[in-house]
Amino acid sequence: MTPAGKSLQPDIPHTRKTVSLIDNHHRTITYLRLAITDRCNLRCRYCMPEHGVQFVPYREILRYEEMVRLVRIFTGLGIDKVRITGGEPFARRDCIPFLQKIREIEGVRSLYVTTNGVAAAPHLDRLKEMGISGINLSLDTLDQKHFWQLTRKDQLDRVLTTLHGCLEREIPLKINTVVLEETTDENILKIAGLAEKYPLTVRFIEKMPFSGGNGFKNGGTGQLKQRLTDLFSLKEVKSDQPTTARIFELPGFLGKIGIIEGHSRKFCATCNKLRVTPLGVMKTCLYDNGVLDIKAMLRSGAVDDTIGRAIIDSIGKRYENGLKAEELCSSGDEPSMASIGG
Ligand code: 5AD
Ligand code: SF4
Repeated sequence: MTPAGKSLQPDIPHTRKTVSLIDNHHRTITYLRLAITDRCNLRCRYCMPEHGVQFVPYREILRYEEMVRLVRIFTGLGIDKVRITGGEPFARRDCIPFLQKIREIEGVRSLYVTTNGVAAAPHLDRLKEMGISGINLSLDTLDQKHFWQLTRKDQLDRVLTTLHGCLEREIPLKINTVVLEETTDENILKIAGLAEKYPLTVRFIEKMPFSGGNGFKNGGTGQLKQRLTDLFSLKEVKSDQPTTARIFELPGFLGKIGIIEGHSRKFCATCNKLRVTPLGVMKTCLYDNGVLDIKAMLRSGAVDDTIGRAIIDSIGKRYENGLKAEELCSSGDEPSMASIGG
């Protein structure tokens, strides 16, 4: 039995709220990021090559019923926050009925979606109705040509329709902006301007080495905090919850700005997340290569309890931080963020 295993007694029904999932470094895990597809309608340069990555065949991707079952297992272990990611989640057919099913799972206290916004606008009413907890919108620039250059698609208008659609419906909104070496101060100031005008949070993200072999390998944008400090008068909002982003208030801003130091790995000590990739592999760190093939278990007839125990076991062997995970797992091939789920 692992240290984490102590918290789940065999006879505790999965609906008991007292269950918690604790890793071997005493971090309580409450958050699952579930990537429902590796396909995407954009081709962001820092995420994949122009021709895309080798997308996995459909039969290899977890089916919706399998994912619903899996989320039930996870909530039985103590997960209460779920984020649906991709690729681009709305690029998968019937994403909305699936989200509705996840929303209805008793233990899911909050449900979020991360989207690039290209195909999300028509679904906003349904998302609002089901009580979506928030949307993270990936948006790196407000300049049409620059957007085209970065994502290789001319779709900025559709993304902005989603952005304004969220604001109109008062769906809590976060903007994810990846900062590359070539990102200009003007670009940063314009995107941050969204947080000045609207009640949303713009989070600037350090570029990470997940470009699907697109030549960004050595890249981190470690100077990001300094750049933002030079540009803005930042006042940090302290949180007692584990967070990936450091959040700042600015004078005169309706919203906030944040920094996600994913390359510097500043938040590992309180990381409360698990990931499941579109292939159904569980990752206990963004930088590991996958620690448990849950799909194989689901498809070989394993019962929920066996799967739950295997999850607990993997969590009992979690890497201490992303640097360790990278050091021990680096395979030489650089994966795409689309095949991980961000
Ligand atoms: N580095 C940092 N962030 C990335 N994302 C995709 N690829 C990278 C990368 N190489 C971001 C997307 C999205 C989030 C899920 O991950 O912009 O907002
Ligand atoms: Fe698609 Fe997101 Fe990758 Fe861009 S970063 S290509 S939107 S999965």
